[in-house]
Parts: sequence; structure tokens; C-alpha cells
Amino acid sequence: MNAHTTVGQLTVKPLPNCGAEVLGIDLNNLSDSELAAVKKAYADYGIIFFRDQKLTEDQHIAFAKKFGEIDINKFFPHIDGYREIAKVGKEKEQKTNIGGGWHTDHSYDQVPAMGSILVARQLPPEGGDTLFANMYAAYETLDDETKAQIANLKAVHSNGHVFGSKAYYNNEERTEFANDEAVGEAVHPVVITHPLSGKKALYVNPGFVLRFEGQTMQESPPLLHKLFAHAMNARFHTRFQWKPGSIAFWDNRATWHFALNDYHGHDRLMHRITIAGVALN
Ligand code: SIN
Repeated sequence: MNAHTTVGQLTVKPLPNCGAEVLGIDLNNLSDSELAAVKKAYADYGIIFFRDQKLTEDQHIAFAKKFGEIDINKFFPHIDGYREIAKVGKEKEQKTNIGGGWHTDHSYDQVPAMGSILVARQLPPEGGDTLFANMYAAYETLDDETKAQIANLKAVHSNGHVFGSKAYYNNEERTEFANDEAVGEAVHPVVITHPLSGKKALYVNPGFVLRFEGQTMQESPPLLHKLFAHAMNARFHTRFQWKPGSIAFWDNRATWHFALNDYHGHDRLMHRITIAGVALN
């Protein structure tokens, strides 16, 4: 899948390794055929990028609702007046960024979110790029023995070590994520059949997966870390450089992402809307 496709002024331009750019489009004025092309590109590529967009908060919500119900995050602070929009920010005095390791959003939920739409609101002069990984390619390139080993495994996804009062994001400079009532676990297949594309994808991530179901924290790491190391290979990745007006819309079941934390001393603010998904199998 590496040919450009066009629908009127709209062009879908595949990127090496992961995702596609959608060019020649105004997300505030989508025709039915453009919306259909965006939905197809999203299903085909697992992540799509837009440039030079001007979405207000209300327009961000309106765009998200074209793809499903909004899944309000239980931990993130939200933007004033907009519960639907999570604030993903780091201020110039802070050192800890949000999402600064490979993960996929909401995998710890019983019904994990379909996708996330991230809009750049304030960017550092340099840095603050986001890496994305293609989890279809990560699965497809596993050797047959590993594929057989993981075919019927399930994994335990948890948020207790990341959010909550005793976790990573509750420290001397951040307390806003510490919602112990929302801490919990979910079990999902290690290999999912993607609900939109019908393709198989590797569905474990270093941020939230603790162990395989039926195995202890001591038994799981050799295979789990082998899967993580495989997907961390740069041949599955793309690096997105944010500019004013940039938007990334990723499928949490088909990708991982990693927000680089290389802009200390500067503010970075992103607005994120997460869209509800379906149970995975
Ligand atoms: C996230 O992990 O959802 C945020 C990614 C980013 O800020 O680039």
C-alpha cells in the first residue's frame, strides 16, 4: 500500500514504515466523499496526519464525533469548559512529559479506545516530536515460532503503575493524574484481529502491559520483552514533527506512540480527544 490516492483535491500520501499524510483538505469543511476517504485512509494506515488546520475546541469535538462517541479519559485534566478534551501539556518549569515512552492510549480499559486525535496548540521552538510505530508490521514480521507462541495468549494491561497516587505521574511536579478510583486492569488478546481492517496486529505495549494472563510477573518478561524489543525497531516507525496547525489521528489498536521529551525550558500543549472503540478479539 504505497501509491498515492486522490479524491478531488485530497491526496493520501503514505509515509515510509507507518502512517500516511492526508493533504489538500480542510477538516472544517469535509464533503461526504472526503470524509469517506479520510475514514478509508485511517483504516488502511492506522495513523493519518494533517497539516495547516484551524480547529477550535468545538470544531475538534465536531470532527471527532464523525468517527464515534468520545471516550473521556479518567485521569487527564481537561481543558476549561470542555470535558471531552484532555490536556496533554508540559510547562517550561516541568521535567516530566506525558506519554514519554512507548504506549497506546487506554489499553487498560475493558473496551479500549479506538483512536486519539491530537491537535498541536503550543509548541516548543525545537523538539517535541512524536514517534509512531506500526503494529501490523510488527506482527507480520515476527518469526513463525513466535507467532505460534503468542497465538492464544492474553495480556494483562494495567494503569496502576502509571496513574494513581503511588504511580509514575504523581510526583513533586505533577499530581493531576492521581485518581485512585479509576485505577484498574483489563485482559486483551496479544494478537488482535483489527476491527476496521480485519488484519492481525500485535496488541501489547510497554506502557501498560504487566504480564501474560496465567503467568506471573517473573514468568512473563522473557517473551514480553522480546515482543517489545521487536516492535521498537526503527523500521516500523515514523517521526512526526509538529508545526502550528498539525494534527495526528491514530488508531490505538494499530499503533504505538512515544512523545519525545527533548525541549526542557519550553512549554508544549496539545489537546487530545479519544474516541470509543469496541471489545477486542
Ligand atoms: C500522548 O501520549 O497521547 C501524547 C503524545 C504527544 O504529546 O505527542
